[in-house]
Amino acid sequence: MRDSTKIIRSTLTRTVAGEPLHAGPVFAAPFHTPGDPADTPYTYARSHNPTWTALEKTIGQMESGQLASGESYRATALVFASGMAACSAVFGAVLRPGDVVVLSSNAYFAVRVLLQEYFAKMGVEVRPALTEPKLREDQLAGARLLWIESPSNPTMDVYDIAALSEAAHRAGALVAVDNTTPTPLGQRPLALGADFSIASDTKSMTGHSDLLLGHVAVRDLELRAKIDQWRTLTGGVLGPMEAWLALRSIATLPLRLERSCENAQRIAEFLLTRAEVVSVLYPGLPTHPGHEVAARQMRYFGPVLSFVLRDKQAAEVFLGKSKLLTEATSFGGVTTSAERRARWGGDAIAEGFIRMSAGCEAVEDLIEDMTQALDAIR
Ligand SMILES: Cc1ncc(COP(=O)(O)O)c(C=O)c1O
Repeated sequence: MRDSTKIIRSTLTRTVAGEPLHAGPVFAAPFHTPGDPADTPYTYARSHNPTWTALEKTIGQMESGQLASGESYRATALVFASGMAACSAVFGAVLRPGDVVVLSSNAYFAVRVLLQEYFAKMGVEVRPALTEPKLREDQLAGARLLWIESPSNPTMDVYDIAALSEAAHRAGALVAVDNTTPTPLGQRPLALGADFSIASDTKSMTGHSDLLLGHVAVRDLELRAKIDQWRTLTGGVLGPMEAWLALRSIATLPLRLERSCENAQRIAEFLLTRAEVVSVLYPGLPTHPGHEVAARQMRYFGPVLSFVLRDKQAAEVFLGKSKLLTEATSFGGVTTSAERRARWGGDAIAEGFIRMSAGCEAVEDLIEDMTQALDAIR
């Protein structure tokens, strides 16, 4: 079965007359546990909850696939209260004092801060690495974990996940890929050889800008057990309502992703034709330095694109004049949004840098609106 069929049908209940097609959220703190609690995964909801299980099954299917060797694998996923909770779980489960984590220098800024402000101070060596394709084998020497993000937010750098995974494994390191911008439908890091595929499902996975969620997917059951234990012990878990909303939303991911990625491509091509635009960063453009690698490892180039206008003032005029680009942070929603990214600090980008997330509106309307907003820049 194809992805959309699998995803849509994965949440159907068994055919029992009079029963609803889909299970509702299970609201429980403790569950009945007479006798031996090992008889059920559901004892206390900080550990497991049936609504999480349903969501994890759906995400696990999306992350499953075939390795380059042709061998099929089944991924398992664990869901978290946010993308950052998912990232923290990998760091907490894997890193110990004295370990080295090689961090791609354009990883999401909160990940960099978390590693540098906390893990580094607890004795983990955080080794910032140059952006692709300059990651050298010697930068991986002695590493326990390589952390990459591809395409990266907001600079849209593309990393060759298969090549880096091979190099990291040769050096004895585990590989984690933050797969937030493409989602597992757009790119499967585990099939490319990574050990962890992590995403902020706050973004395209759920796509309606109304909840926070994250997940970690793995092939290896020992790694899964460590991540699972971290989640239970730290306890920052998601509620069943969020898990259920996510399940509803994920059913339309194939439709949303297809439309928003098509829109992103059309918008990127349009921006290239405009003199006010200094540069456009989108892996779907043949002019993007990572295009060839992206075309090899991605099924969709993603809904996020970035572009640079002359300066801060030009970017502010553009965003102010636009009527259809909702000014907001985050990305991956059905609503097209954009922001001047430098207003947050933390990334090495120009003042006129705009990160945009293409939504699912009619692209002609978006392009008409952007045309008049660009015309307003003097
Ligand atoms: C690439 C990336 N990773 C992780 C996160 C963190 O996700 P969350 O906001 O769901 O905690 C974000 C959030 O923007 C992100 O863009």
